[in-house]
Amino acid sequence: MTLNGRKILLGVTGGIAAYKTPELVRRLQEAGAEVRVVMSAGAEAFITPLTLQAVSGHRVRTHLLDPEAEAGMGHIELARWADDVLIAPATAQVIARLAHGFAADLLSTLALATEARIWIAPAMNRVMWDAEAVRENCRMLVSRGVKLVGPGVGDQACGEQGPGRMLDPDEIVAELGGSEPVLAGLRFVVTAGPTHEPIDPVRFLGNRSSGRMGFAVAEALAEAGARVDLVAGPVKLSTPPGVQRLDVTTASEMLEVVTARMENADGFVGVAAVADYRPESLADDKIKKSGQPLTLQLVENPDILATVARRRPKPFVVGFAAETRDLERAARGKLEAKGADLIAANRVGHDRGFDTEDNTLEVFGAERHWNLGSRAKRILARELVAIIAEQMQQDGNGKKQ
Ligand code: CTP
Repeated sequence: MTLNGRKILLGVTGGIAAYKTPELVRRLQEAGAEVRVVMSAGAEAFITPLTLQAVSGHRVRTHLLDPEAEAGMGHIELARWADDVLIAPATAQVIARLAHGFAADLLSTLALATEARIWIAPAMNRVMWDAEAVRENCRMLVSRGVKLVGPGVGDQACGEQGPGRMLDPDEIVAELGGSEPVLAGLRFVVTAGPTHEPIDPVRFLGNRSSGRMGFAVAEALAEAGARVDLVAGPVKLSTPPGVQRLDVTTASEMLEVVTARMENADGFVGVAAVADYRPESLADDKIKKSGQPLTLQLVENPDILATVARRRPKPFVVGFAAETRDLERAARGKLEAKGADLIAANRVGHDRGFDTEDNTLEVFGAERHWNLGSRAKRILARELVAIIAEQMQQDGNGKKQ
């Protein structure tokens, strides 16, 4: 991904996430962009203009009516100079100003005076993010073509948990970079989330998969131009843009839908944490406690990934392996045993891998190995998709006989 030659005007407003902006400037520059910074008065409570001047290599503008600064690059010239205006962090205040067209300070004036693409990376407490006024303002901005970058879900500076966290600098850079349509014309089926295997009308066997990695992979494939069917177990996530979602509950249902959708597909990415076993029989009524130990008889579920890999012509098949130990050995074993082209392996434990924003991935192919490190799931998904595209191209677009 590259931002080569892009002129980015970074607007920093007064949120605690402003402390991440020096790193954001660096990441934008590493991706090839030229960056100039404008700060709101509120931002200066969190970070000094001098810091951002040092990393950007340019004087930071803070006021609209600054004769000295206007003598250099005036605000209209600055608005014309930019290819992109990125406001990060974007507070509820600046979002409201933009939505209602206030030219209240330098940044909001620039936003009105520019023809550049405008990106906003919101950062605020989760209840504020959820406030109808903020929602409505964002809807208004998006309908006018402003791009919303995030927010992410996770720990917040206020000690709460939820949506409203500013995305990490590398996630923001990835959003601005977009992706090349390297998979245009290809069709993929992706599985995501857990499966629930019913025991009786109110209970099931399940696992802690959130579905986020699978949804991120589906999104990254769609961004790369592929047509994507996302077969999702029970998860609480919204469908990524451009993706066809099919909801299922059990492993057997997942296999059935995947099999139908693979008819015309070129690739399969199995990210779902499919239950390996299901109860042999489903009780018609709720099982009552009896004061005695209870034994559930389990039978093995079909292996969806291995079933898909046996199809001919063979699609390009990518599996995931969640391991608590011996990552490489287990991943290579699965590559062999399941007939996959790639296995993306991550370590899981009580505190990592499942239901988190970040992940650590290593990808194993028959002859190659990629260590993608520890990153946000959406970034990892994009990198995995780049590997898939490269490998499929080497194999003649994945249509293997
Ligand atoms: N998978 C699948 N169908 C199953 C089980 C697993 O498609 N019934 C896929 C998963 O989506 C994942 C890969 O197989 O891509 C690896 O899953 P994992 O549970 O790690 O492997 P298992 O074969 O179940 O091996 P283990 O004994 O380590 O649990």
